[in-house]
Formats: sequence, structure tokens, C-alpha cells
Amino acid sequence: MTRKLFVTTALPYANAAFHIGHMMEYIQADTWVRLQRMLGHEVHFVCADDAHGAAIMIAAEKAGQTPQAFVAGIAAGRQQYLDGFHIAFDHWHSTDAPENHALAKSIYLALRQNGLIDVRMVEQFFDPQKGMFLPDRFIKGECPNCGAKDQYGDNCEVCGAVYAPTDLKNPVSALTGATPVLRSSEHFFFRLSDPRCVEFLENWTQDGRLQTEVANKVKEWFKRDRPAEEGGKAGLGDWDISRDAPYFGIEIPDAPGKYFYVWLDAPVGYLASLQAHLTKLGINFDAYMAQPDLEQVHFIGKDIVTFHTLFWPAMLKFSGRKVPDHIYVHGHLTVSGEKMSKSRGTGISPLRYLELGLNPEWLRYYIAAKLSARVEDLDFNPEDFVARVNSDLVGKTINIASRAAGFLSKRFGGKLSADLGVEGRVLLDGLRAHGEVVRTHLDERDFGKAMREVMLLADRVNEYVDQHKPWELAKKEGMDAALHDVCSVCIEAFRILIIYLKPVLPALAVQVENFLQVKPLMWADAQRALGHHTIGEYKHLMQRVDPTKLEALFEPPAAPVAPPPGGEALAEEIGITDFTKVDLRIAKIVNAEAVEGSTKLLRLTLDVGEGRHRNVFSGIAANYRPEELVGKLTVMVANLAPRKMKFGISEGMVLAASHADEKAHPGVFVLEPFPGAVPGLRVR
Ligand code: MSP
Ligand code: ZN
Repeated sequence: MTRKLFVTTALPYANAAFHIGHMMEYIQADTWVRLQRMLGHEVHFVCADDAHGAAIMIAAEKAGQTPQAFVAGIAAGRQQYLDGFHIAFDHWHSTDAPENHALAKSIYLALRQNGLIDVRMVEQFFDPQKGMFLPDRFIKGECPNCGAKDQYGDNCEVCGAVYAPTDLKNPVSALTGATPVLRSSEHFFFRLSDPRCVEFLENWTQDGRLQTEVANKVKEWFKRDRPAEEGGKAGLGDWDISRDAPYFGIEIPDAPGKYFYVWLDAPVGYLASLQAHLTKLGINFDAYMAQPDLEQVHFIGKDIVTFHTLFWPAMLKFSGRKVPDHIYVHGHLTVSGEKMSKSRGTGISPLRYLELGLNPEWLRYYIAAKLSARVEDLDFNPEDFVARVNSDLVGKTINIASRAAGFLSKRFGGKLSADLGVEGRVLLDGLRAHGEVVRTHLDERDFGKAMREVMLLADRVNEYVDQHKPWELAKKEGMDAALHDVCSVCIEAFRILIIYLKPVLPALAVQVENFLQVKPLMWADAQRALGHHTIGEYKHLMQRVDPTKLEALFEPPAAPVAPPPGGEALAEEIGITDFTKVDLRIAKIVNAEAVEGSTKLLRLTLDVGEGRHRNVFSGIAANYRPEELVGKLTVMVANLAPRKMKFGISEGMVLAASHADEKAHPGVFVLEPFPGAVPGLRVR
């Protein structure tokens, strides 16, 4: 039976480029989708930018852009990552697109129609300077529990306490530094505590569609005691779905100045993206969604489970729409044991990985080899990475083909033997028989188990090669048929292994298809034999990882490529005491004249308010005629040791700006103070 699948990954916030954690989620989902397609199932795989919210609005403002332009800039950078790591989304959309505005409003109106929307007054911190309500992340203060300074409004990074922003001591707005004031305003709530929602969710979350550990966690939320302001009863609290202007989001129907909280319209973006995609294909969205056998699958990380197991299914259910069939939750990627953070964005840069020429399929394989179906964190460890790629992929797998292909093309014109011998047939039957185990593991997202299984199969093939030693057969008289069989077995075995690896290594699979001269490999092709078939010329399929390149991945990125301003890098940092050693004074140019025998120098007579004049030679003759300078004020280094020059003694130095490469960028520009300065004033 052909499955009909609508698959998504979480919609990334459009306030930053992708980090390696995003790539892990996409690799997981993409691998799973590729498997489904190889099995002949019908998949629509979409994603979008999560464009709305206060954080993005503020980031755009800082960048001096409209939120729309800011988000468009981020969106424009997405494709290179997706192409680079072979992530084959069918469509990439934005939650700010018209489809999403329309869908979010229609879902909201249906919920309201169903009596599930409430309006209540909420008291919140307001930044009087900025004129806006402050999201928790934009309020800082002292932790009410341990007193640590500079903590965010939702939790303390020092002691881990979780609290409301109003609990913070000495709160300040992170936007303006102003002291926030409490102000109340009308908010809209989705009544999740309604018995209809509770009953639906208790069933939907516990009917086996969620991973056990996720279902168990959700169960606790049903029992949790709610704080007094939420009614104090045990169970689900209502969900605040509105934010006041100014906000970058979707305006709530019949409520001017009120916007949907970003998390209300974000998951709706799954549907909006699918709708835009289907429209392009000429498929009716409503009809597609109405198919009874359609499966809706969301891949997400462990930090956004509440939204996807409570709010989102309830929104869909009570607006009369299809509910998700599966929420596949993964843990987080850590790098060398260290957590990466959304705000700090540490870890390894996916683009730098590509720029260094590291093969994207190494990362895909490595992640697959370490992924399970459980909500476990996964560590990217460079030594482990090198070891697995080099020994599993290159050593065990690729080598099978490279050892056999040469003999086949040199000795047998690339033609495979269809006989293969008893041992060969046993080996291949074994590989084929394990296809179902590999498929099951992949289907259940136990990619690590699937990869281990494939590597055990590769071990068997390598044992076969070591036993039959084609390189020895090739030297012996009369062993041509045996050599032919052994090499043909190797190629057939290699093809089967590549089929099993294809969801993880799609680009390698394409290279192999070209080499073997076969059509795009489907899962079922493993069960068929190539028979009398002629393969192409073997070209090197995959390099080993060069560990020094991997080291470079962890180095801080090279200095910016833009040339330093003024043609030279900044001088070494100094302290203020270093600076004050230089005594700069306002000087009046009382006289200026050419210097005989020099085209560069002018002789300046300066008044620094000392009751005497100073004689200074200055290399500015190319730019200024003496008469333009007389009577002007400038800045001089007044405590420079007098210097004897060919034309006399110079008692200081006049300040002027010039490019490091004066030949290429001519021009010397004398400094002149703003009006009001008088000779002798110190410049500090
Ligand atoms: N915009 C929300 C999701 C809205 S879905 C309707 C969001 N965006 S995010 O950019 O912060 O995260 C996007 C996805 O990346 C989430 O599934 C998140 O769990 C995942 N990851 C974020 N950091 C990660 C790792 N370190 N490792 C693996 N996945 C990570 O949340
Ligand atoms: Zn604390």
C-alpha cells in the first residue's frame, strides 16, 4: 500500500543563519523522507521560515531594516545550506506569506466559533521609553532566588530557578535600560483547560502515536498544579495567544492592535507551506488534506514539544482540521560535549564545513550512525567522526567496489558474470534477507541501528573478498572464471549496500548509479540481481577525511576578507594611560612657507599658547599651498622630543590623515578643530 505523507521539520526562526543543530534535524528528516520515496511512497516535504515575533522585530530594527526585508535577507541565505547538505525540501515558505495570514485567521475564527477563545486582562512589564510590552527575554534583573545579577525574565542561568519576570529584583528593560512598569492590557486566550480539549489531548497524546518518553512527559503536564493566576487547579492551563502592538505578526480579526503570538501562527506555517507547494503542482489543498489515509508527520527537537503535542493538535482539532499523526522528537546536537545555544550560536558552522571542502555526506553518515529514535542528545566528536567515516564508509564500503571494479573492466570489459558461485550466492542472499531489518530500523528512525546492520553486512562482504583474494586469482593461470565470479559478487554486494545507504548518502548513490550504469536505485532493487550487465568505468567515489581539515573547522574563522580601512590594520590595543602620554594641543598656524630643496615639506610656525612660537616641519606640501594654511587652527603633538632635520629643528608634529599606501591613494589631510577651540587647549 502506498503511503501518503505530509512531512515537515520545525520552522527555523528567521533571525539567524542555520547552525549545525538545524542541519542535524534536516538530515534526520531528509533521510527518512528519502527512504519513503525509495519505498515508492508519496511524500510532500516542506518547511518555511518562522518570520514573526518580538525578537525578530527587534533584530530588524537593530539592523536598520523593516522586519519584512530583514526576514527576506535571512531567507535568501537558506538554499546554500540545503543544497550543500542535500536536503531535498519540496518547498520553502514563510509564515509571513499570505497563505499563512489567511489560514491562521481562519483557524482562530473557528476556535472562537467553538467557544474556545477568552479575553482577559493581563498585567505585564511595559517599557515606557520604547512604548511596548516586553517579552520575558527582554527583561533583565536580579534572580529572586539566588540574587545573581543580569538574569533574564524567565529563568536564572546561575541557579536554574524558573520564575515570572515580575519576580525579578530591580528589573530593567534590555532594550532601553529603562525601568519597566506594570501595565495591564486585554489578552486573548485559547481555552486549553476546556474539558473538550483536555479529553481530546489525553487521548491523542496517549494513544501510542508519540514516542513513549514524550507521551510520559506530556502526561505529567496534565497532572501539574497550575499557579493561582491560572486558576490553581491541576491540569492544562489556558494559553495566551495575543500580543500587543508594536509586534511583527498577524493581526487578530476584530481586535485592532492585537496580534497572534508567534507560536500561534508558526505551526500554521506547515499548512501554508504545503498549500503553496500543492498549488504550484495544481493539487487542491483541501482535497489533499481530506484524504483519510494521509499521514501528517512533524520532525522537531525536544525543546518545542509542548507546542506540538498540546497547542498545535488542539488548534487543529477544534478548528475542524486534520490532526498530526506523528510528532518525531529528537534530542539536541552537542559539539565535543558542549551544548550549543540559540543566542550564542556556538558550535561548528555548516557553511564553513562546506567551504573547507568537507564532504556533506560524511556528516550525514556520521549523524545517521549516531541517531536513535529516542530523545537523546547526540555529540559531534571530531575524532569519532574521522574514525567512523574513514573506517566504515571508505574502509569497509567503498573499498569493496574499488577492489573489484579494476579487474572487471580490465579483464572482462565491465561485463558481470551471472553465475557467481555457491558462496557468492549465499552471501548475496544473506544481504538481501537483511534488507527488511535495515528498512525497519530506518523507518523507525533508528538510523544508528540501521547503519550498524549495514556495516555488519559490509564486514561479511569483506570477509568474502579476503577469503577469495581476487588479487591472487588474477595472477593465477586458468582462474579467470573464478576471478570473474568473485568480482561480480563484490559489485552486486556493493550495489545492495549502497541501496541500504542511499537514504543517508544520496549523492554517493547517484555516483554509484552512474558507475554501475543503472537507473535510480529503489529499495526493492536490492532483491533483484543485475545478471548479465555491463558496468561503467570506476572512478574514485569517496575520499578519506583529512583530520587537519577537520581541525580547521574548529579554528576561529579567518580574519574578515574586507580590506582594513585606510589600508592598514588597527594598531595594537592601548590603555588610556598610553594615550595620555601623548600631549595633543590646539595650535594656530601663524606662518607657513615652502622649504627650499624639498617638495614634500612645509615649514610651519605654530602658536600653542606658550608665549613663544614653535618651528615644525610637516610633510603636507603636496596637498596645501602655504597661504591656505596661515591663520588656521590644527592639532599637534606638543610633547614630542625635538628632532634635528636637514632643514632645521622640528619641535613637534602636526596631525594629518593619510592612506597607508600613499602612492595608490594620494592625499594628506590636516586636522582642523571645530569652531571655538583656541591655541593651547589639550585634546583628550
Ligand atoms: N521557530 C521555532 C519552531 C517553530 S515550529 C512551528 C524554533 N526555531 S529554532 O530555529 O529555534 O529551532 C528549529 C529546530 O531546530 C527545532 O526543532 C529545534 O529543536 C532544532 N534545534 C535547535 N538546536 C538544536 C540542536 N542543537 N540540535 C538539534 N536540533 C536543534 O524553535
Ligand atoms: Zn538564580
